[in-house]
Amino acid sequence: MEDNVRVLIEQEKLEKKIHGLAAQISNDYQGRKLHLICILKGSVFFTCELAKYITIPVTIDFMEVSSYGDGATSNGFIKVRKDTDESIEGKDVLLVEDIVDTGYTLSFLLDLMKERKPSSLKICTLLDKPERRETEVEVDYKGFEIPDEFVVGYGLDYSQKYRNLPYIGVIDIKED
Ligand code: IMP
Ligand code: MG
Repeated sequence: MEDNVRVLIEQEKLEKKIHGLAAQISNDYQGRKLHLICILKGSVFFTCELAKYITIPVTIDFMEVSSYGDGATSNGFIKVRKDTDESIEGKDVLLVEDIVDTGYTLSFLLDLMKERKPSSLKICTLLDKPERRETEVEVDYKGFEIPDEFVVGYGLDYSQKYRNLPYIGVIDIKED
């Protein structure tokens, strides 16, 4: 059965916000180079849109992590499924995430990346669900705070589906 998806943040609003973040980032890192790390797979769409509008020199790498949980939520046990290709030592690194939920994924990644001696390390997330936080994470750049609802689209999935929706929607899951 088809799930119902209700639009929460439309494409135009999303992209306007992302372009604003790109301008802010370009300004903050003026005169430097920025190394973006896109956290697969959810952040792909966000990273592309962000990178296109950053005006300083950018390099991009990818990393994929997964949590040993029930699939929809993390439980703090995270493993690296795909590591970055390049070293981050001495680089200005910006981790690009789709959404911060419990915060476990990003705290794990921050600890891991800090050991690799980047020159600086910051976090940029498109979405934030502050009500769900279980471990504190300092987010440097944030698109939107959203309520505690399961969202899909613009890279975010439900069972690998709906990543290609050009907007963020709330999904009403139909079991069949
Ligand atoms: P955290 O470790 O709980 O902060 O989880 C972050 C990850 O959980 C995100 O990178 C997403 O992959 C996934 N996630 C959390 N909330 C949602 C949601 O509403 N829709 C889709 N994926 C989500
Ligand atoms: Mg993710």
